[in-house]
Amino acid sequence: MATCRIELLTTADQIDGVLAIEQASFTNPWTREMYLAELENRGVSYCFLARDARGQAVGFCSFWRILDELHINNLAVLPDRRRAGVGSTLLAHVLSEGVRLGAGRATLEVRRSNEAARLLYERFGFTVRGVRQAYYTGPVEDALVLWREGLSDVATS
Ligand SMILES: CC(C)(COP(=O)(O)OP(=O)(O)OC[C@H]1O[C@@H](n2cnc3c(N)ncnc32)[C@H](O)[C@@H]1OP(=O)(O)O)[C@@H](O)C(=O)NCCC(=O)NCCS
Repeated sequence: MATCRIELLTTADQIDGVLAIEQASFTNPWTREMYLAELENRGVSYCFLARDARGQAVGFCSFWRILDELHINNLAVLPDRRRAGVGSTLLAHVLSEGVRLGAGRATLEVRRSNEAARLLYERFGFTVRGVRQAYYTGPVEDALVLWREGLSDVATS
């Protein structure tokens, strides 16, 4: 896995790093206002930022902890930093945090055509459990609904 430092988003000045990765990664990126609202939702909403050795924000993963479930909202890595283990490092961190927060299972949605993300999630034990037709726009596409059960086994996966 990549050597990067992972920090929890707690203040507005950390949002710029997340926005740069959002904008480089998604056709409908979340906005600063959305992240500011998430910061107010402490105890439910979490966002972890990965920084490289020079302190540059290179990836992030955000989720909500709802009762014993982890709902992963976003995971992205700067395009020129992909395929170096940052996504895996973030996902492993988030799943461990989920266990620490009392979650037993995790879920997320992914575009059907997103091979890279699907392979990554598969490696972490996520399986397809449903489809939301035409869930995404820009372009319109189905979402696959993935679940990972038995999160407390995460340390051994
Ligand atoms: C999906 C994403 C977060 C992966 O981040 P990453 O840092 O490149 O992931 P990793 O380097 O940890 O890759 C782990 C494994 O995932 C799979 N994978 C990742 N990118 C892949 C690609 N482009 N093609 C095929 N497999 C890929 C591989 O199995 C890879 O292991 P390997 O490199 O040993 O073969 C990144 O591609 C990204 O930011 N994509 C755009 C945003 C996005 O689609 N997010 C997911 C929303 S649900």
